[in-house]
Amino acid sequence: MYYLLVALFVPLTLGLKIGTSLQWIEHTPQPYAVRNFYKGSSTATISSGGVANLGSDTSFDLAANAETQGLKQYANHRNIRLIYTICEVPYRIVANKASGIKTLADLKGKKIGTMKGTSAGVFVQRMMASVGIQENQYTIASGNVCMKAPCASDTLPAMLKNKQIDAFGIWEAAVELGAQAIGDSAIIFQNASVYREIYSLYSTTQKLNDPAKRKDIVAFVRALNQTLGVFNEKPESVYDFVAKEVNMDVKVVKDVWKDHWWVGQWGKDVPQLLVEEDAYLAKTDGRAKASQKELETFLDDSVIKEL
Ligand SMILES: *[C@@H]1O[C@H](CO)[C@@H](O)[C@H](O)[C@H]1NC(C)=O
Ligand SMILES: *[C@@H]1O[C@H](CO)[C@@H](O)[C@H](O)[C@H]1NC(C)=O
Repeated sequence: MYYLLVALFVPLTLGLKIGTSLQWIEHTPQPYAVRNFYKGSSTATISSGGVANLGSDTSFDLAANAETQGLKQYANHRNIRLIYTICEVPYRIVANKASGIKTLADLKGKKIGTMKGTSAGVFVQRMMASVGIQENQYTIASGNVCMKAPCASDTLPAMLKNKQIDAFGIWEAAVELGAQAIGDSAIIFQNASVYREIYSLYSTTQKLNDPAKRKDIVAFVRALNQTLGVFNEKPESVYDFVAKEVNMDVKVVKDVWKDHWWVGQWGKDVPQLLVEEDAYLAKTDGRAKASQKELETFLDDSVIKEL
């Protein structure tokens, strides 16, 4: 009986399960860390998913997503913690100069492609607000992303090229492919202090308070830390790996590399950025905003300190 219990119990406690979107550049340090550096008690498995899984499925130990999805989940699951920042990405807007656009403010009255309800939607709103243009002063069009040319007709780069939209803003590689598709007509707007994606790793208080699980979580973050060292210092050694993971052309990975900051720790301005973003999301999602104190609790640097 004793052995039976052990047999039933042990497989449930071993191994890390990580939920992440497998199609984006930002996620690639996770598979790289598992393959090259992770030394936990057992395997680490990366599954398609995200921070929403942490709130609904206790089989997930970790998840990675932009801060936008983190804040949306934290609103209803106060046990979620942001424990590490894998990548900060100052998103870009590409516009078509042929639409009479020379400055960001010229996007007033224009048709801008993005994805509502995502970090890209927040990004476009913040960029336009930074030049005094409100959401009712331009039109948002939805479109899909593209990671590799040729881009399908329902994707933002193709819509820009076909003049169905005047500009669009989203994560890479779509913006780069849009800019390359229209060549000299492209103009880029980017401002990291107005908006940058804080692509982060999340867990829950339950997982972090479980000593065995915590050990594996620390081991995984340590492996990520080593990975970011490689991504920063020897990027040429990982371009092929990244391109294969997300089905991109190696050249385009190189083209957008400078727009991906493999930071590891969040910057000093991030707590305030989260307060502002949560207030905006609270309004659009029809909920109460989190207090500054609650958002300070959401950011948990205790794992980083254990490395
Ligand atoms: C970025 O945004 C900040 C805040 O709105 C502004 O002060 C700064 O001039 C902008 N930088 C650029 C290059 O536009
Ligand atoms: C984290 O990565 C940085 C940069 O590569 C390195 O200097 C530091 O020693 C690492 N920390 C740990 C605990 O691995």
